[in-house]
Amino acid sequence: MKKKLFVVLFLFTGMSLEAQINELVIRAKKTGAEIQPTMYGLFFEDINYAADGGLYAELVKNRSFEFPQNLMGWKTFGNVTLKDDGPFGRNPHYVRLSDPGHEHKRTGLQNEGFFGMGIKKGEKYRFSVWARSSGRGGAATILVELIDPKSRNDRQALAGKELIVDAGEWKKYELILESETTEPKAELRIFLKSKTGADLEHISLFPVDTWNGHANGLRKDLAQALADIRPGVFRFPGGCIVEGTDLETRYDWKKSVGPVENRPLNENRWHYTFQHRYFPDYYQSYGLGFYEYFLLAEEIGAAPLPVLSCGLACQFQNSDSSAHVAVCNLDSYIQDALDLIEFANGDISTEWGRLRAEMGHPAPFNLRFLAIGNEQWGPEYTERLAPFVTAIRNAYPDVKIVGSSGPNSEGAQFDYLWPEMKKLKADLVDEHFYRPEEWFLKQGARYDRYDRKGPKVFAGEYACHGRGKKWNHFNAALLEAAFMTGLERNADVVHMATYAPLFAHVEGWQWRPDMIWFDNLDCVRTASYYVQQLYAHNKGTHTLTLTMNGQNVTGAEGQNGLFASAVLDRNSNCYIVKIANTSGKTQPVKLTFAGLKKNESLSGGTRIILKAAGPEQENTIESPNLIKPEESAVSAEGQQFETELEPHTFAVYKFTKGAK
Ligand code: AHR
Repeated sequence: MKKKLFVVLFLFTGMSLEAQINELVIRAKKTGAEIQPTMYGLFFEDINYAADGGLYAELVKNRSFEFPQNLMGWKTFGNVTLKDDGPFGRNPHYVRLSDPGHEHKRTGLQNEGFFGMGIKKGEKYRFSVWARSSGRGGAATILVELIDPKSRNDRQALAGKELIVDAGEWKKYELILESETTEPKAELRIFLKSKTGADLEHISLFPVDTWNGHANGLRKDLAQALADIRPGVFRFPGGCIVEGTDLETRYDWKKSVGPVENRPLNENRWHYTFQHRYFPDYYQSYGLGFYEYFLLAEEIGAAPLPVLSCGLACQFQNSDSSAHVAVCNLDSYIQDALDLIEFANGDISTEWGRLRAEMGHPAPFNLRFLAIGNEQWGPEYTERLAPFVTAIRNAYPDVKIVGSSGPNSEGAQFDYLWPEMKKLKADLVDEHFYRPEEWFLKQGARYDRYDRKGPKVFAGEYACHGRGKKWNHFNAALLEAAFMTGLERNADVVHMATYAPLFAHVEGWQWRPDMIWFDNLDCVRTASYYVQQLYAHNKGTHTLTLTMNGQNVTGAEGQNGLFASAVLDRNSNCYIVKIANTSGKTQPVKLTFAGLKKNESLSGGTRIILKAAGPEQENTIESPNLIKPEESAVSAEGQQFETELEPHTFAVYKFTKGAK
């Protein structure tokens, strides 16, 4: 009896499996919304040593001796004194190296860099310093060395050269060092070699080979990783650092432009936000400032999206209203916003446009979006945002304004702010969601229900945070990919999306997961990075309706853990279908391109898949290439394509439209 039942069940199941092929129907002829060029982008914040110690290629920490403990990051030896009447008004400190008083003694100093300095064999490094001779007159000589402080060889120096400080007036000096070996934790050491002393200020060391060769430039491998995404939008400089722990420490863009030697130091809130990940030497030099951000955005082809303080210090950290700027005193903050637009777009005859030109970019940066406030909430936010909106609309009606929906993906603050943003006519609303796997699995249809007439969505910070101390593992990336089918399907309402945070130093992180990890020499692109890249490279130009049994494919009950979306790329005449199989089973899938004429077929099929050896696998600095997109050719039969999608896999299928 049991056997009979089994046979019947087997037959039945076999038949139903056959019948249960997941048939995804794409309405190939009826294009939907235009997909914004800004759709998939990047969010940058100086968290996890993303700027100083990361993307910003400066290797010297505390180069201007302005940290509150002025010699933090430095070891001094011999006769060294700290002075405070230097040539740069906002950075007045410098060091005086004087004769140690005995021919066998030495004076000098040594910088530890950011977790050391990554130095590569055969690469050139530009040392620069503002200096003058001091003391007895005449020229001073210093010896500049790159050293391996833990060296077991007979010599600590990896490279070294003498520099003559030939004047008693402040001047900039430079020399180039070339290392004989690769060393991830080198340091910079300077000896005074002459009886005549030397005053040294703004002691700097950059690789010569920066991103696009810029002086005061960016680490090439990290900037290249950004460019390789082909992002549509670039949001900067944060994140919470925009707000500051107090108003004094908010990101003040005006302090981040002009000559780099005179940009003042700012605290970095991530230095102390988490006591269990405490980094007392984490500050913002502003060396990577707004000019550099705009330039980077331009060079990676992304629309710049700066975020400015709305006059509220971090609301998580300040419950007292006296921590914030009173609404009646917002004028200078509003002026900062107007001046920023002038800095980015203004004619070179304007005050701020002229500064941009003096810094090397006479042409405008074409700023079209500006966010006011980061994770703000409550009436205290809306009453401050309102005067910004009025002033920006009056002066620059074409600039689109981005408002906040608070720090959470739903709940009271979110529910309060969305209608307020509508009333204020914000162009876009920034949503943040750092949520667990279960949340992502349930959000495939999130934007299907959004009001089509209100502000557009900027999914400005999101990442799947795996439970059980899993970070950047494949399953998180897969669920982000699944969720993103919902962004894509709703491209009429979602105009921008940026994963967050972007960068993390393996020794200096405060927050994880992150999209790109790095140490002093190398970087690793996570599975989440590749998801972002696959979407950005295959974003298409127009949405197409894709359904299974007449329903959007959102991972809903009965959809076998599948999430899917489809677009047309009019430029390449290509249909692109994205499918995430979040289930643990292989799923038979049939794509039917409905509406094509009889003589129209699909050619040039390509399949790109992202999968892992297991849902918990991740790319690491040691094994950076475990998870990578794999591309292969596939072919459709007429207007249909059948395949089997492996468990836990994200796939992108592309077919060119052609005549038979
Ligand atoms: O991305 C890290 C932080 O998360 C951002 O600074 C903030 O906006 C959010 O809370």
